Parts: sequence; C-alpha cells; structure tokens
Amino acid sequence: MFHYFYVTFFKPIAFRFDPELVHDKMSQFGHFLGRFKLGRWITKLLFSSTQNEILKQEIQGVVFKNPVGLSAGFDKNAKLMNILPYIDFGFEEIGSVTMYPYAGNPKPRLYRLKKSKALVVYYGLMNDGVKTIGKRIKKALKTDMVLGVSIAKTNSDKTAKEEDGIMDYYHCLKYLVNHNIGQYYTINISCPNTFGGEPFTTVDKLDRLLKKLSEVKTDKPIFIKMPINLDLKDYDGLLQICVKYIITGVIIGNLTKIKDPNLIKDEIPEHIKGGISGLPTQKLSDDLISYTFKNYGDKLKIMGVGGIFSADDAYEKIKRGASLLQLITGMIFEGPSLIKTINNELTAMLKNDGYKSISEAVGAYHI
Ligand SMILES: Cc1cc2nc3c(=O)[nH]c(=O)nc-3n(C[C@H](O)[C@H](O)[C@H](O)COP(=O)(O)O)c2cc1C
Repeated sequence: MFHYFYVTFFKPIAFRFDPELVHDKMSQFGHFLGRFKLGRWITKLLFSSTQNEILKQEIQGVVFKNPVGLSAGFDKNAKLMNILPYIDFGFEEIGSVTMYPYAGNPKPRLYRLKKSKALVVYYGLMNDGVKTIGKRIKKALKTDMVLGVSIAKTNSDKTAKEEDGIMDYYHCLKYLVNHNIGQYYTINISCPNTFGGEPFTTVDKLDRLLKKLSEVKTDKPIFIKMPINLDLKDYDGLLQICVKYIITGVIIGNLTKIKDPNLIKDEIPEHIKGGISGLPTQKLSDDLISYTFKNYGDKLKIMGVGGIFSADDAYEKIKRGASLLQLITGMIFEGPSLIKTINNELTAMLKNDGYKSISEAVGAYHI
C-alpha cells in the first residue's frame, strides 16, 4: 500500500528536485519524527514487520534482530538514530565519520541516474567530525537497533601523507573506543572521492594501517569496507591482510568507479563526478561476496551491500555468503517500506526453504 503511494505519487514529484535537497529534507523530517513518541508510534505502525526469531543473529556478542542495515553515507551525522528502528532496520552504520569535520566537496555532489537505478556520489566524506557526532550518538534513545560507526580519514591535504592519514584513523577509532560509542566499527578504506584518492587499498598500506589500529584495544566487532573495482589478485591481497589482524569481517562493498555502458543507461553530464551506487554495483558485489565466502568464509563475516532493491536481491547475497546486508539506493528508489518488505519476505523464503535460522542459509550456494 505505502509502496504503491511512494512509487506512484511521491517519487515522480521528489525526483524532479535536486537529490541533495530531497535527501536533506527527508532527513530533517525523519529527525523530527524521531523526537516525538507519536512520530515514532505512527512510523512503527506503517513500517514495522512482525520481527521473527528466524532473522536474529549474534555476531561477536552483538545481537542483530534482523539482517537489514542502513549503509554508511545516508545518516552521516547521526540524526536518524531515533527513527530508523521503527522503519524496521536491524542496524545502521553512521558516517563515515572522520577525526575532524569536513564541509564536503563542492556541489553538485549527488546526482540521480533514474534509468540505471543508481546515484552518483561525490560528498567526499562530508561530516561533523567524531567529537560532535559521538556526543549525538551518546544521546540516542536506547532501542534494539545496533549502531555501527564507519571511520574514515579526514578529507584534507593535512592527512594526504600516509603517516598522517594513519594517525587520523587511529585518533578517530581511539576516541570512539575510549568513549564507548557505537556497537561495531567499520574502517572505510575505499572512499573513492577523497583528497589523494583511495589511500589504503593496497596491501602494504592496509597492512601499516591495521598494524597501527590494532593498538586500539576493543572487544567490539571491526569490519573493513572493501573497494569493488580491484582485480581479484589485488582484492585477495587485501583479504589476506584482514585475516592477519583481528578483523571480524568485510563489507562488500563501496561505490563503483566504472561507468559500464551496459549498466549505466543515463547520460552523465561532464561536470558530474563521483562513485556510483545502486544497480551497477550489484553484480560486482555479489561476485566478490561469493569469492570471499568460498575462500575466507571460515575467518571473515560478510556484510553484503550494493544494489539491493528487493527481498530476492537480499536473499541472493545471503546465499552467496553475506550474514548481514546494507542498503541506501534501494530505499530511495523503492521507499522506506522496502525494509519491512525484505524482512517479511526473507522470513517466508527461509521458512519455505526449511531453515530454522538465517545463519543456516548464509553461503548456501557454496556448501
Ligand atoms: C549518498 C551516499 C553517500 C555515501 N557515503 C558513504 C560514506 O560516507 N562511507 C561509506 O563507506 N560509503 C558511503 N556510501 C556507499 C554506500 O555505503 C554503499 O556502499 C553503496 O551506496 C552501495 O549500496 P546501495 O547500492 O544500496 O546504495 C555512500 C552512498 C551514497 C548513496
């Protein structure tokens, strides 16, 4: 019902306006709803599924009530923590957060590719900085939705040198751990839109980064957000570094830099820069999930992200090896009821296939 309203009436109007403006207005509205009991109650009535035990998982002591999370980049500054649990999310990843605030790259930094079901993203790690965001997270209402924090390197010429970049990540992680903020951490090594390019997506550099970060002691899960455009040999090299350190798992993956004409059906104007989300990332992500599960499934947990628009897309990633899922673009194209639909349909599909728990279905294609 809501999905029909969203795609038939709301989306055609909203998609006529500047994407960043629509995103900001929707975020402000979500923040407003989250402040009041009535707002949260109405949202729950519209968007919450009957949570089923079959979807529940515990990963390194953290209980996820369902596998669907909001991916990093939508709630950069932790303004939506009080409303997202009522849109049925099992978890959200705040950020990416950096040690120091950054106002973002010049506009336009968000562009819609309607026919390709994708967005071009060029924010360049815009955020309020870890101290401000950390205080906000501390004030969030207590709910059963897990809060993860994605950490990146401050986007500035001051962190362009490798040692400075590593220390920037280190101080950011240390601040979060020391103040007990967030239930898991993600090290985003693969933001394509930063000063000096993706800095830690080579074996040696990742090794040096994780060596330093492992000095920060925490029992909380740590994930690495992977690039999705490397060739398999280089990608595998990064996974070998991940298993060398105490890394819980990998998030597969970030935006794609490839403008594949088979997948990009819209014209992208010359002045539009950035990485691409949504459908063009789907197969890249799915193939890497399979590869990672087959080769490292006993050592690394996988979060699957990229082009999830339906419960079928979500189940595909699970059967390829993802324990948890994240999305953004699917919610923008299909509306916020997508999360409830995925949870309800996943429950039905798991039961239909004879599983008692979602964890039994993880990697089913390869077992
Ligand atoms: C508007 C926007 C901002 C993003 N910002 C970040 C970010 O700050 N950190 C990050 O790790 N990924 C970021 N991403 C990438 C997403 O987390 C995700 O990996 C990617 O969009 C693929 O998922 P999707 O197809 O469901 O959107 C961003 C994506 C979008 C659409």
